Amino acid sequence: MSMINETFADAVGYVYLDGEFYNLYDREANPSLANHSLHYGGLVFEGERAYEGRIFRSEDHSKRLVRSAELAKTPAPGVTVDIIEKAKYDLLEKNGFKNAYLRAFIFRGPGLGVKAGKDIQTHFAVVAKPASVYWPDHILENGLRLHTVDTRKISHHSIKQTSKASANYQASQIASYSAMEMGYDDALMYDPKGKYIVELPVANPFFIKDEVLYTPKTAKDFDKTPFLPGITRDTIINIVAPKLGLTVVEKHIALSDVLHADEAFSVGSATEVTPIAEINNTAYLMNDIPPSDIYNFRRSGPVTHKVMQAYAEHVRSPVVV
Ligand SMILES: Cc1ncc(COP(=O)(O)O)c(C=O)c1O
Repeated sequence: MSMINETFADAVGYVYLDGEFYNLYDREANPSLANHSLHYGGLVFEGERAYEGRIFRSEDHSKRLVRSAELAKTPAPGVTVDIIEKAKYDLLEKNGFKNAYLRAFIFRGPGLGVKAGKDIQTHFAVVAKPASVYWPDHILENGLRLHTVDTRKISHHSIKQTSKASANYQASQIASYSAMEMGYDDALMYDPKGKYIVELPVANPFFIKDEVLYTPKTAKDFDKTPFLPGITRDTIINIVAPKLGLTVVEKHIALSDVLHADEAFSVGSATEVTPIAEINNTAYLMNDIPPSDIYNFRRSGPVTHKVMQAYAEHVRSPVVV
């Protein structure tokens, strides 16, 4: 039995590590059991999609990876945006993948003892797998059923939420798991003070009222933002919504605002635009939508459907990099 995340079991072919290509299961490509990041969570990563051989906003993801490494104090000297870009595209080519999901990540080598300092070597790796449908069938059919949970986002005083640091995902995992134990598909998380709704475990939310889109706002001092302001969120705000003539308002959002919305959806590189059917048992507008080659959902609110369609077209556009 493999000890590697089984969602990458179909990443047959090659993986990239520190300038070399290996098979996913090669001994040299797998961290030691004394790996520092495995024990203490000091790994930073990106999740991104390639559409017809073009990685959507690839450079933005690579820049965020470098920045996450700095914020999480896992500096990786020599791992530049150019090196990350080349590794990602070389890996796609080597595997012959055109539509794929990629994970680029920086992590520490062996070392037991939390004080990593600069002595422990850092590594840079990329794994990829052919693109697959993210959600199970019942969510494609009905949309997401979410519930708020006790587990809040970690404070920026501890770990910057603007860094895509694996340690942040311990809270995300517990939140998701708790919501599933309660019989829902996933969680909706509060900020560290428990005042505002900020995000899903791995995606940013949008709420629609009277055809206006609302989404949690970033802090003035960006790295104090209590959630990860994603690249997909940015694409919706700055490209998709203007194209559709929709207004977006970034504001603090309380649960009462959420429960008075007409529609809701979540966004992320992996999950793309996902209709939300209900939050805390309050149902949103959901209609049957026509089948499509570029999205997999079968029901959605009417404005969400327009956003889903426009996003799916945008990421596949040959002029987009
Ligand atoms: C916590 C969290 N928020 C938001 C997002 C969406 O970010 P992006 O659109 O950059 O993928 C992700 C994506 O993985 C995430 O993990």
